[in-house]
Amino acid sequence: MTDLTRKWEESGYNKQYLEISDIILQDRDRLMNILISHIRHFGKSRAGNTFLDLGCGDGVLAKHIHSFFPENTFHVCDGSEKMITAAKENLKHIAGCHFYTVTFEEIMENEVFGTRFDFIVSSFAVHHIQHEIKYRFFETLNSLLKPDGHFINIDTCLSGNQQTNEWYYTLWKEWIIGQQERAGIKEDYSDIPQKAPHKPENHYQELDIQLDWLKKAGFTNVDCYYKYGIFCIYGGQKTE
Ligand SMILES: C[S@@+](CC[C@H](N)C(=O)[O-])C[C@H]1O[C@@H](n2cnc3c(N)ncnc32)[C@H](O)[C@@H]1O
Repeated sequence: MTDLTRKWEESGYNKQYLEISDIILQDRDRLMNILISHIRHFGKSRAGNTFLDLGCGDGVLAKHIHSFFPENTFHVCDGSEKMITAAKENLKHIAGCHFYTVTFEEIMENEVFGTRFDFIVSSFAVHHIQHEIKYRFFETLNSLLKPDGHFINIDTCLSGNQQTNEWYYTLWKEWIIGQQERAGIKEDYSDIPQKAPHKPENHYQELDIQLDWLKKAGFTNVDCYYKYGIFCIYGGQKTE
């Protein structure tokens, strides 16, 4: 476990994230549904695929995918034992789901899964990897895919223009305020977009750099499939 993944183990941190994620994660439902459309369009079949969810948290993304494509095999991993415990509870209806308490850094060093995947997916987690090792992580993901397999990542991405990024943070703040009003909650989380980029566990990076690293790591058909402020879906395919 790294110091940063240890933070996810701290009492209260995981719990608070899980409680407020629908309030603070801009457009999460839409992003997850676009990912479903991608799988539906590009999957060779609706059944028999093997999925890996990276940084699964409580398993929200795997659960969503399984609700559309139940006849598949699911593997979920997270560096936090508490998150994996939450995922085990949330995904207990998925027969044969594989759970791994393992960090991204450990995945780069060891053969953890003993299988290859048709889809590697992730939501709001890959930005926790430090810039210095992210390219190598993408290479690892490429090696974990079956030929023609897809990596689809819901995550943060920055513009190369700082003024544009400032607006994106304002856009995010406006979204949080709107969600708070809709949900009728008293707590105010609207300072998160100001604080999040400066937290040590967050490594936000320009979209173009991330796409470039995917290409250099061996992915083809690399693209940003959807973008709303700093939140996006990007990915690529392994062709061999
Ligand atoms: C923002 S949460 C997202 C969780 C979930 N995917 C979702 O959409 O709600 C980030 C997750 O990444 C995990 N994480 C952070 N750094 C990690 C690392 N280096 N290796 C593995 N997991 C990590 C955390 O434990 C946490 O569950």
